[in-house]
Parts: sequence; structure tokens; C-alpha cells
Amino acid sequence: MSDPAESDVVRFKRLAAERAVDSIQPGMVVGLGSGSTSALVVRRLAALRGEGRLTDVVGVPTSVETEQLARSLGVPLSTLEEHPVLDLTLDGADEVDPELRLIKGGGGALMREKIVAQASRRVLIVVDAGKLSPRLGTKWPVPVEVLPFGWRSQALFLEQLGARITRREGRDGAPFRTDQGNFILDCAFGPIDRPEALASRLEARAGIVAHGLFIGLTSELVVAGPGGVEHRRP
Ligand code: 5RP
Repeated sequence: MSDPAESDVVRFKRLAAERAVDSIQPGMVVGLGSGSTSALVVRRLAALRGEGRLTDVVGVPTSVETEQLARSLGVPLSTLEEHPVLDLTLDGADEVDPELRLIKGGGGALMREKIVAQASRRVLIVVDAGKLSPRLGTKWPVPVEVLPFGWRSQALFLEQLGARITRREGRDGAPFRTDQGNFILDCAFGPIDRPEALASRLEARAGIVAHGLFIGLTSELVVAGPGGVEHRRP
């Protein structure tokens, strides 16, 4: 039943999460993304387990936060050490373009999210319709995870590539630290003409350990909005 206090965006995220979990088959090893939509995926999976369904599904979390949530709900977890290849990953995104290229990392989990996505046979991205964008960078900066060592040099490099930089802060005003202990530089490039070219520049730079451009990784998309829920497959 829907909660009357639930906002439209949260309702769309929940509907998308519920549809996405329908793709999980018994016995699968499933990557569990990070962020509020992924949390709804984990909650849905836990609810189905409570009904005696998908009880043999094992999750591989992409962040400490997701790990803690899954544990608290009794969802069995594993690691990429035990399962270097995953059947399916369900994850959210901040921005999705028509070619299903993504900006991710709004929650700071981009490094582990990308590792898990690259280790997965299928990557199903789960979003509300507000995440759809004609061109990446229109709505969201590109998060870039950098080692604290030399971070100001990375900020200069990123500015030279055309970005306006904000070092992400935690609630306490101290620099936000990723699960790896690194900083995030949020890079406002504006609409990005050639995401592949930008990704290559970022990947060539020592000190940049991950960036939030996810290209060629999405195999399917579930999107929910005022028009209903749609599952786009290749
Ligand atoms: C976290 C992510 C999230 O998937 C992204 O920020 C979307 O979050 P939400 O589902 O809360 O809107 O990439 O690093």
C-alpha cells in the first residue's frame, strides 16, 4: 500500500526498485548498489525473503552503508573474493543519457560501484524519471575520487579540463571521505560533449582513483515516472 506522505520522487524510486527486484532469480549472486534507490532494492529483497522467496540469493554490497543496511535486514552477503563474477547488479544513478551512459557517485560510492558493475554479467540501473537527461553533465557534476596526497594538483588539472570544482564535505564540515579514505571533487563541467574522451583523460591521471562517468556498463534500465514503470532491455 502506498504511504500518503511519500513524495512522488520516493514513490517512483520505490516502484522502480520493486520492478527491478523482479529480475532477480533464485540462487543469483547480486551486486547491491548504494544510495536511496538501492536501499529500496535491498528493502524489497529483504521483504521477499520474509515471504520465503529468493532466500538463496546472496548480495555483494558496494558500500559500507549498503552492507550495514543489508546485514540489519538479514540479507546474506558475500564478497568479490568469493564471487569474482556476479550474475546481476542493481544500482541507482544520478544522471542517465539516451545511450544509457551514467553519472554516478552522488553518495560517494563510485569506486566500489564501478568495480562491482564491471564484475557483473548484467547491470540493471534503477531510477526515477527525473534522472533522465539529454546530455550528461546537464543536471549533475561528475564526482571524481582522488587520493588525499596531491589533491590540489588534481583540482588544478580538473579545472584545466574545464570543470568548476567543489571538494565534497561531510555534515561536520570536514572533507568527505570515501569508504577507501579518499576525497571527492565534484566537477561541474556543464553538458559534456564527449563523455568517452573525458573519461579517458581522467583515467590517464595518477592520483585520480575513480570517476563517476559509467560508460558501456548499463545493460538494462528500469525507470519510473508519472507515465508508469518501464523496463528498457537491449
Ligand atoms: C551513489 C550513487 C547512487 O546510485 C546515486 O547517487 C543515486 O542515488 P539515489 O538513489 O539516492 O538518488 O551513485 O554513489
